[in-house]
Amino acid sequence: MLAKQYISDLQAYQPGLPIELVAREYGLQPKDIVKLASNENPLGPSPKAVQAVRLALLEVHRYPEQHALTHALAAKYGVHPEQVVIGNGSNDLIDLIARVYLGVHDEAISSEYGFAMYRIAVQTVGATNVIVPAKDYGHDLQAMAAAITPRTKVIWLANPNNPTGTFISYAEIKQWLSQVPSRVLVVVDEAYIEYLDDNDVQDATMWLPDHPNVILLRTFSKIYGLAGLRVGYGLMAPEVAELLNRVRLPFNVTSVAITAAVAALADKAYVLRSYRTNKDGRAQLVSGLQALKLTQLPAYGNFVTFEVPDAARVYEQLLRQGVIVRPLAGYGLVNWLRVSVGTTAENQRFLDGMLNLKR
Ligand SMILES: Cc1ncc(COP(=O)(O)O)c(C=O)c1O
Repeated sequence: MLAKQYISDLQAYQPGLPIELVAREYGLQPKDIVKLASNENPLGPSPKAVQAVRLALLEVHRYPEQHALTHALAAKYGVHPEQVVIGNGSNDLIDLIARVYLGVHDEAISSEYGFAMYRIAVQTVGATNVIVPAKDYGHDLQAMAAAITPRTKVIWLANPNNPTGTFISYAEIKQWLSQVPSRVLVVVDEAYIEYLDDNDVQDATMWLPDHPNVILLRTFSKIYGLAGLRVGYGLMAPEVAELLNRVRLPFNVTSVAITAAVAALADKAYVLRSYRTNKDGRAQLVSGLQALKLTQLPAYGNFVTFEVPDAARVYEQLLRQGVIVRPLAGYGLVNWLRVSVGTTAENQRFLDGMLNLKR
C-alpha cells in the first residue's frame, strides 16, 4: 500500500536518547547516567502533583473531565475558559493547528532553526513549509513577514526558541504583528516562558483581544515537571478555540495528567525552586563553557546551545562517560550541541565530561 508522498518523505522527530538505551549500549548503570538531552525539569515532579496523581488513579475508570484545568488556567491568566484549549503536550496543539488551518495548497512559515515539530505538523497535512533563513541563529522577523504570500495561513514562532535558545523581546513581536495580515495565524510558542527573567517576560494574553489571529502555546513539560504525563495548552480567541475543539479528540489528555497539572499549577514553591535551579544551573553551564572557550548562543530557556569543532565525536565521547546531550545536526547545526540545565551535580558531570574529552 502506498502512503501519501508527503508522508513517505517525512522525517520523524528525533527525541533525546533515553537513559535505559544508553545504559545498554555503553554498559553503564542507569543511575550513573545524566540525561541533559530533552529540556526536562531536573528536580523531578512537584510532590503535590505526585500526591494528586495517586488520588487520581482511584478514578481512572471514569473518562477525563477537563473543566478543572481549563478553569484553573483561565483564572491564572485572566482569560475566559473558552479561550483555553488543552492538549496532549503542546505538540498536540501544534498538530491540531496544522489540521485545522492547513491543507495541500497552503503555506506555513517557520524559521531556519525553529522547533522541529512545526515542519512535521505542516508536512503531515500536505501543506508547504516555507523556511526563512535565521538571523544570528534566531528568527528574522522582517524576513518572515516578507515571506507571506496569499497562500500563507500560519506562522510559527517559538520564543525562546528551541534548539537555539534565542529570544526576541515581546515589544518587537508586538510591533511586528502589525505587519502580519489578520488572516494569517501567528503561533507564539512560549514553552520556555517561565524561565525568562522578570525584565524580559511580558503577558502576551493582552494581545488576544486585538489580535484574534494569535495563539499562545504553553506546556507543563518544562518548569511544571510533567513531561511524561503530556499536558500542554493554548490561549487564544474563543472562535479559534472553538475550531480547535471541533477537531481535538474528546479525551486527548488523561484524567491523571489533568489532575497532576492542576496540582502543579498551584505549587508555586516548586515552580519558584525550578526557576532558581535553572537560573543558577544555566549560569554554571554558561561560565563552564566560557572557560572552555566554546562559542555559545545567548540562553533564555532551560538549555544552552554551544559549538564544538566536531559535534559527533564530542557527543559520542560524552555518551561513553554517561552524559546524554542533544546533537543538532538534524537542524542543520552540524557542529552544535544542546545541553539541558540539570542540577548542580549534573551540570558538573557534563562540564567534567567536556574537560575529559580525548583528542
Ligand atoms: C519550542 C517547543 N515547543 C513545544 C514543545 C513541546 O512540548 P510538549 O509537547 O512536551 O508540551 C517543546 C518541547 O521540547 C519545545 O521545545
